[in-house]
Amino acid sequence: MEGNQNEYFIVKAKDNGVHVIGLTRGTDTRFHHTEKLDKGEVMIAQFTEHTSAVKIRGKAVIMTKYGVIDTTE
Ligand code: TRP
Repeated sequence: MEGNQNEYFIVKAKDNGVHVIGLTRGTDTRFHHTEKLDKGEVMIAQFTEHTSAVKIRGKAVIMTKYGVIDTTE
């Protein structure tokens, strides 16, 4: 397994109904999991063998080793 697949990211919902959508690794890029967060909920997750990308929908703060992103800014 590659090192970058162990990387964590954090999503903190600033609103109800924020979606954290995991996209599959490999030639076929599709949604495989949708997690719904309500205001104040925090998800700590990794990139894995199965998950190569994540799409965040809604108002949230996303923290990665590259920095902090607020989806409303
Ligand atoms: N079973 C998934 C996996 O191991 C769980 C997962 C990891 C996930 N990171 C995620 C789901 C990010 C949604 C978003 O890949």
